[in-house]
Amino acid sequence: MPRVYIKTYGCQMNERDSEAVAAQLVAKGYEMTSTETNADIILLNTCSVRDMAEQKAINKMQNLAGQTRKKRDVVLGFMGCMAQSRGQKLIDQLPDVDLVLGTQKFHRAAEYLDELLKGKRDKIVDTAEEAGSEATIKEHLLLGNRDRKSITGFVSIMQGCNQYCTFCIVPYTRGEERSRTIDDIVAECRELVATGVKEITLLGQIVTSYGKREIKSVDGKSAFVQLLEAVHEIEGLHRIRFTSPHPKGYGDDLVEAYGRLPKLCPSAHIPLQSGSDRILKLMHRGYTRERFLNIIKKLRTIQPGIGITTDIIVGFPGETEEDFEQTLSLCREVEFDNAYLFKYSQRRDTPAAAMPDQIADDVKEARHARILELVNSIAAKRYDANIGQQVQILVEGPSRKNAARTMGRTRCNKIVLFDGSTRHHGELMDVKITRTGSFTLYGDPAILE
Ligand code: 5AD
Repeated sequence: MPRVYIKTYGCQMNERDSEAVAAQLVAKGYEMTSTETNADIILLNTCSVRDMAEQKAINKMQNLAGQTRKKRDVVLGFMGCMAQSRGQKLIDQLPDVDLVLGTQKFHRAAEYLDELLKGKRDKIVDTAEEAGSEATIKEHLLLGNRDRKSITGFVSIMQGCNQYCTFCIVPYTRGEERSRTIDDIVAECRELVATGVKEITLLGQIVTSYGKREIKSVDGKSAFVQLLEAVHEIEGLHRIRFTSPHPKGYGDDLVEAYGRLPKLCPSAHIPLQSGSDRILKLMHRGYTRERFLNIIKKLRTIQPGIGITTDIIVGFPGETEEDFEQTLSLCREVEFDNAYLFKYSQRRDTPAAAMPDQIADDVKEARHARILELVNSIAAKRYDANIGQQVQILVEGPSRKNAARTMGRTRCNKIVLFDGSTRHHGELMDVKITRTGSFTLYGDPAILE
């Protein structure tokens, strides 16, 4: 049977899409392999959000075409966001590529690979829109009970984005916002829980916009909060997370949900992008600094220990030293548990790419270094504050970096490492935090059987 290797770039949605493609291929008799060296088919699931991510995938494919193809006849394919936005151009640039599969076509992977392998078609490019494609990412690779994948599960609840932030390529690669039904999502979650999954993360480009057009608010509760309530009902499920929300989606109904729904973990990744109102407006973000601060205040009132992380872009066109200082001061005020910091990258056909006053690379670099230092020092302080505390973790499996250690996550989404064994996998247990490392807590089991 043909062996398939999939390499994934970018966000958790991409990870989830790759998993669904793998599950689809396994069901059709293909075998997944974890190295490219013995693969018959190599698929790169790509990201377009910054130029660097695109270049990485293109370089990788160049290498594969140059080296691997000379030795063996492998099928080479691009999937996902860059496949969607560049289409046929990828084959023009890299003629060894056989397949270009867009973001609404993941479910056709097996069929197309079959045609290519049988020689029915020479090249396939499919980046068309497809009604109903939002409901096609539902298959999971169910690995053995002791694997981390059967302890935490990711469920795609929607596709696309209608926010059109001026820096962002996603509306053009993922299309219009389309949501699955609550019943469909709950059924998928139930299936996961039946296989031993204890924690589910609901995924979407902007999950707080879930069902905006399709599902009416009930008693002041948005469609997304209704979905959280429905998933919360599932017996045997212990933890619910979601990513990513948009600040404008934090209405009181969602804030209150953190107080009302015990399975909803007190952690949130809320993309800030900038602390300057002027830049937020140019970015088309739809909120102010004050509104953002207010959301954080409300969340911390209802869940004082809530873990809060964010995304920040430095060097957006026109960003002055003063604008940047506003972002720094917001970071000092909020004290994020972590922030993902990005240098603005011009994306083709986005409004910001054509804005005046593009920022020079050395300025972006310097601002990035300054904010990184600030964010890291605040995060270290917040991690250190956990020392001596007893926290509940869900044990996911061996640590990725050091398999001798066992890894779990707190409800606030912090990684905890401890000396455990396979018998702890999938357990909810209490540990005492003894020390910290970089974005890591080290724990000692407080209650062992
Ligand atoms: N340049 C830099 N960072 C970007 N992001 C999105 N588009 C760009 C861009 N053009 C960042 C945002 C987003 C995260 C996923 O990537 O911070 O939240």
